[in-house]
Amino acid sequence: MPTPSGAPDVAKLKVGILISGRGSNMAALIKAAQASDYPAEIACVISNKENAAGLKTAAGAGIPTMAISHRIYPDRESFDRDVSAALEKHGVGLVVLAGFMRIFSSWFPRHWAGRLINIHPSLLPSFKGLHVQQQALDAGVTVSGCTVHLVIPDLDAGPIIAQAAVPVLAGDTEETLSTRILRQEHRLYPLVVRWFGEGRISESGGKVAVKGVPPGSTLLFSDEP
Ligand code: GRF
Repeated sequence: MPTPSGAPDVAKLKVGILISGRGSNMAALIKAAQASDYPAEIACVISNKENAAGLKTAAGAGIPTMAISHRIYPDRESFDRDVSAALEKHGVGLVVLAGFMRIFSSWFPRHWAGRLINIHPSLLPSFKGLHVQQQALDAGVTVSGCTVHLVIPDLDAGPIIAQAAVPVLAGDTEETLSTRILRQEHRLYPLVVRWFGEGRISESGGKVAVKGVPPGSTLLFSDEP
């Protein structure tokens, strides 16, 4: 049915966001999705921690939220299956991990294969795990950044969708480098979710293609907000 403006009323991609903490990436996605021409809507936000600050932010934006504590489950997979059921109840077509600090059983990434993404604050495959900005400083790299990738059962692995780079500057600390990378995360993640909403992402043989973006394109955002 046409909208009053005459534009076709295309169903938006429903996105479920999983968080464990402050949720600044989640907030960036919520903000992006408030634009009427954004092709995705945030259908729900789920946290494995009841006290995650991001839950309040999401609720304040009128988004359905839920806390599902992993602590009450006997094993990873039963937690994963309940989270999955909650996402499906909201009609989610893309699951977005945004600081979700719980390792899945292999069931979850298999169930959501191709529809589950994560953002990581390093240029993968370098620096996996925790304190990755400190790992980058310790290694003496001169460039770092963030990576959005499809999630597979292995931690911080999976086909890379897009990366954004930042310089490592003299005198950087874990905090200053994290802040510089985070600014890029807040731009990169909404862009990638937009691509999903536009149906431009495909994967074959472990490599992601984005329709309209030539392979190997480097995204260099200015460091300014
Ligand atoms: C971000 O640095 C993200 O890359 C990593 O966890 C952090 C989450 O931050 N996966 P926030 O909760 O989105 O502010």
